[in-house]
Amino acid sequence: MQQTLVLVKPDGVKKNLIGEIIARFERRGLKVSALKLVKITEEQAKYHYAEHEGKPFFGELVEFITSGPVAAMVISGENAIKAVRGQMGATNPLDSVPGSIRGDYALTIGENIVHGSDSEESAAREIKNFFKAEEIY
Ligand code: CMP
Repeated sequence: MQQTLVLVKPDGVKKNLIGEIIARFERRGLKVSALKLVKITEEQAKYHYAEHEGKPFFGELVEFITSGPVAAMVISGENAIKAVRGQMGATNPLDSVPGSIRGDYALTIGENIVHGSDSEESAAREIKNFFKAEEIY
């Protein structure tokens, strides 16, 4: 059993895709263990994306993720990290296959609808940035 942090980013929230994205995970057999709508702070965004600090797109990334509310959730299940990343599609939507979330709903790498943790270490760090232990079921 694994847990992973998923964010429906501001573009996904604006496009009314929260329900659609959750439904895809639930249909697969994954569980929503925690869920909140939150406008994240610059400090929280920089911590979340710490591995990208110093890259040319870092400023835009922080600006975009703090530009409006995100739906933050903990998704749980067998191999949840890999399963969620498969359902999200490739980071660049142009490389995402139709049927994946990004392949169906996104066109640009900067506004790619959804984020999912890429490893158990990232998931543990990212989940703590959004949820207290008692908020996770
Ligand atoms: P995400 O899965 O949230 O993790 C890091 C994000 O950085 C990624 O999705 C993209 O939205 C963004 N990103 C990665 N590479 C680039 C890039 N070359 N230009 C702009 N944004 C990028």
